[in-house]
Amino acid sequence: MAVEVLSTADGREKTALSRRHAAAWLAARDRGEPLPLGEAAPPPRPARPALPELLSPRDMPRRGPGTLAGRLALIHAVAHIELNAVDLHWDVIARFTDTRMPLGFYDDWVRAADDESRHFNLMCDCLEAMGSHYGALPAHAGMWRAAEDTAGDLLARLAVVPMVLEARGLDVTPGMIAIFEKTGETQVTEALSVIYAEEVSHVAYGSKWFNFLCGRADSDPKDTFHALVRRYFPSPLKPPFNEEKRADAGLPPDFYWPLSDQTPRSTGS
Ligand SMILES: [Fe+2]
Ligand SMILES: [Fe+2]
Repeated sequence: MAVEVLSTADGREKTALSRRHAAAWLAARDRGEPLPLGEAAPPPRPARPALPELLSPRDMPRRGPGTLAGRLALIHAVAHIELNAVDLHWDVIARFTDTRMPLGFYDDWVRAADDESRHFNLMCDCLEAMGSHYGALPAHAGMWRAAEDTAGDLLARLAVVPMVLEARGLDVTPGMIAIFEKTGETQVTEALSVIYAEEVSHVAYGSKWFNFLCGRADSDPKDTFHALVRRYFPSPLKPPFNEEKRADAGLPPDFYWPLSDQTPRSTGS
């Protein structure tokens, strides 16, 4: 199922398939008849549509949110992140089956993949309602980099993807919601509010299974997290941090503050 989603290029088709497979997995779990865990060889990179054109971040046009074009670029960027997130969650399901994990691990990432599929569709709906569509603008080329870098290490994958990248989403989403509140584009504020509320659980799944694996190996989660993030995500984490939502997701301040180049005092938060 995971490989089938990863191998589907079109965004709407990928998310429709993702939602069908998630529903089938979760329904089987509810019946008490879990689907068998298979083994699979996920592709090194997921299939992607011919458009959007993928550009390196320094070649991406920069536009402020004060113009419609700038706001469309922002929604387009979120759609791209969500599509990438669909693939990331199915990839963690398929790639690490040699590490024995409880079924709840798969439930969590199946649920997260289903959430991201809805998030992508919500962002596409906003783009289309505003006269654009996913693929109309260029997108960030480096999105799969974190997945490739951590393809051989489940702990590193959990540290970098949900606990660093998705946690960063919790930091920046309130500011994006404020942009669209100001312009009265309510379809976008409503969609981003759904995303904001649901992303907490993805970070929480990450910290839950990271702590589980550290506990199983009798290693210190905080020290392990610092070592893995310094190795696989060398740029410093950027405050301000959403300390409240990070706490909801089981990420304590002593996990992320030491990886930033500032101290809590220097930012006044
Ligand atoms: Fe999402
Ligand atoms: Fe997410």
